[in-house]
Order: sequence, then C-alpha cells, then structure tokens
Amino acid sequence: MYPHEYPGALWYDQEEVDAVSKVISNKSPFRYYGVKCDKEVFNFEKELGEYLSTSSLSNNNQHNKVYVTAVNSGTGALEIALDVLGVGSGDEVIVPGFMWISSISAIIRARAIPVLVDSDQTLGVDPEDLKVKISERTKVIMVVPMLGGSSKIGEIMEVVRNVNNSRKKDNLSKIFVLEDCAQSLGAHAFGIPGSSQTSLPEGYYKLGTFGDIGTFSLQLNKDITAGEGGMVVTRDKELNDRVDALHNAGYIKKEKNNINWYGDIPYGWGHGRRMSELQGAVARVQLKKLDSILDNIRKNHSFFEEFFKKQGIKLRKRAYQNNPGDTGYYLCFHLPENLDDNTAISKGREIAKDLKDKGFNVWFLHDFEVHIYYNIEPLVKKFPMNDGSPWEDPKNSFHTQYKYDRGALPNLDHLLIRTIGLNMPSKMSDNTRDNMMNDLLVTLKNLY
Ligand SMILES: Cc1ncc(COP(=O)(O)O)c(C=O)c1O
Repeated sequence: MYPHEYPGALWYDQEEVDAVSKVISNKSPFRYYGVKCDKEVFNFEKELGEYLSTSSLSNNNQHNKVYVTAVNSGTGALEIALDVLGVGSGDEVIVPGFMWISSISAIIRARAIPVLVDSDQTLGVDPEDLKVKISERTKVIMVVPMLGGSSKIGEIMEVVRNVNNSRKKDNLSKIFVLEDCAQSLGAHAFGIPGSSQTSLPEGYYKLGTFGDIGTFSLQLNKDITAGEGGMVVTRDKELNDRVDALHNAGYIKKEKNNINWYGDIPYGWGHGRRMSELQGAVARVQLKKLDSILDNIRKNHSFFEEFFKKQGIKLRKRAYQNNPGDTGYYLCFHLPENLDDNTAISKGREIAKDLKDKGFNVWFLHDFEVHIYYNIEPLVKKFPMNDGSPWEDPKNSFHTQYKYDRGALPNLDHLLIRTIGLNMPSKMSDNTRDNMMNDLLVTLKNLY
C-alpha cells in the first residue's frame, strides 16, 4: 500500500501528544472556561487569521485582516455560513457539480434550492456558466475548490462584483460568495477579494478569503487535521460577530455588558458547534506544520507532473498557470480525448482498479462517490426534510425547472468520465516515489 491520503495525521508526533496532554492535565477541555483554560481554540483562531491574511507572494497585508471562528466540522461551518448570510426558502444557492455532499446538504438544511453550475477545465466553477446561472433569486454562490486545485476565483469575484453593481442600481440585495475550502487550506490564487466594491488591491490571497465567507474542515483527509473540526472565516467584522453568535448559543457577546458567558444580545438560534480545547490544541500544532506539509505535497506533485508530461498525458488545467497556488493534494490526469463515452468509462474504471490493486490511493472521478452531483441519490431524487422542505415549500415551487441527474452539466460530465485522480502523499521516500512511477508506467503501458 502506498502512503495514505491523510496529510496532516501522518505528521503527528510528540508535539500533538504534548498539546493534548496539557489540556487533559489542566482539566479544561472547554474553550471558554475551566479549571485552567489556556484558550487553545482562541489562539488557534488568532493564528489561523494571521496565516490566512498573508501570502508568500504578496506584500499587500495592510487592511487584510481575516477573522476566524473555529467550529466542530466543515459541514457545520457551511450550515452556519449560510445561516449568517440569511439564506432561506425562496432562495437559490449556486453550487458546482463536483463538491462533497455537505455542500449540498447545507443548502437543503437552509431550505434553499441548489442550482448547479458547470465546471471548466480546472474542474472548478466556470465563470462563463456562472453568468448564465445567476438569477434574481440567487442569494449565494458557493465555490468549492476541489482536491487542492483552485477555481478561477479572481474571475468569479469579478463576475459577482459586476452583477452586484447592477443590483445596487436596481435596489436589489447583493449576492454573497461562500468559498467551501475544506479541501484547499493553504492554497492561494490571484485576483481581488470582495463581492462588492473593495479597497484591496489585485494580488495573491489565500483561498477562503476572496468571498464574503470561507469555510474549512479539519477532518482526517484534510491538509491538517484534528480528527474533526472546521473553521468559518471572513474579512467582515459584522459578519464575524454573527458567525460567533450562531456557532455558539445564538447570542452576540459584548464584553462590557454580558449577562452570561455566551453573550447578551440575542441574534438568532445557535448551532451549538463550538470546537473543544483538545481539537484546538492539536490544530495549533498542525497549523505550524501546514506549510511544510504543503511543500512536500507540491514537490511530489511536480515530480509526477513531469512524469505524466513525459508520457504525453494531459493533466487537469491549473487556474493560474504561471503562479500556481494549488496545494496539489491530488494529481488529475485525463484519458485520451478521442474515446467515446462508454469506452472512456470502462477504461477509466479499469485503470483505476489496476492502480488500486497496486496500492495507489486513486479515484476515477465518475465513480468518486458523493463528490459528484449525479451520484448523490437524495439530490437526484429530491429527498425532502421532515417538513417536506425545500422541495414542497410553496416559496420554492420554481425548483421544478432544475434537474440533478447526469446531463445537467455537460462540460463536467465530459471531464469526469475522462479523469483519474491520484493522491499526492505529504510524506514519501524517494524510493517509494520511484516504485510508484514504475508501477504507474506498467499500468499506463498496458491499459492507457
Ligand atoms: C468540499 C468539502 N466540503 C465540506 C466538507 C465537510 O467537512 P467535514 O467532514 O469536516 O464535515 C468536506 C470534507 O469532508 C469537503 O471535502
């Protein structure tokens, strides 16, 4: 078996053990108080905010503050974000067809209607199709950079700013952008952050800080991990106050006039999704290792990129060719373009199976479980929640115009049956890498 796809967990050592032990010794696993609460979660939020507000390629750190609220999962982060942005029945949320089921379930739980947007060659949101999919009911555009590769977020933000400018003239409410960056912590891209007028200059910024809100996950398969965990980030102080309230008991805390520990101003119904000090302590240690983890993944990605290029095999397009900020968590290579659909599907399955049998962490994207819209049965069949929403809600009657089975996104459909994703380990010896390349060569020679 080649190295597992658990980037952060493979870097666990005595530091994480000591961090957790300290919380236990202090008998203080709760983030706000305890016998001797060291405020691990609070410090993690501060440190991640600093990390996200800098980019190695950028010196425009002024006015670049990023607020962070730590929560207990990436799914929870999405649900809180949609709540904070005021999403409800009658609203549409635009979402790509290549994501994770939580991106969809969060929309359904908010009682809104998901509207699928097609992908371009980056496998991320296609800015051109986005223009077509925006309607008067669009409340939020969810961008989901997958497998560590960024979407064209700079172009996407420009599309949204233009739409919001016209909306402003017509006295309509603005569209928000939510970046679900569960799979791309530490990646960066080029552009101007902000879904409306902004004072930030064009430059390199971390993913998750372009839109109004960004979310992350600390689940096992992510760049860094605390087993479970998530984060909601924003540049907007007002939005952050609301996230802070809703992730907890629904109250906004004003230090000078608090009548209880969770705050004194009721804002809404809380989600009860606080992060524990045990998670916070591990997350802080992992955050310090993040850039080293990414350096390793990127280095391995470059080796394999060269390897595939030498074989004349095409790879997933990067959004920013000259300054790739992708983490490279998976390398995605394409099957020959001239295959008809049925041949592509059987060839994709055959190659992926052969590589899996050889111990690779590999996915034929067409079969990539509930990362793919048409594999999500509850979406295709429009499963309702207990009260029938969102589908049976009269405010959502327009949903009948939307279908979610294969065929809804022609460009993505075409790519998914012609793409295989290969995990790029964060820890691997030169010897293992050479063995992987030899094994790959045999498979490609026999089956490609
Ligand atoms: C794109 C995406 N969004 C959301 C999530 C949900 O995160 P979590 O598993 O922490 O709830 C994940 C990962 O699992 C993901 O990959």
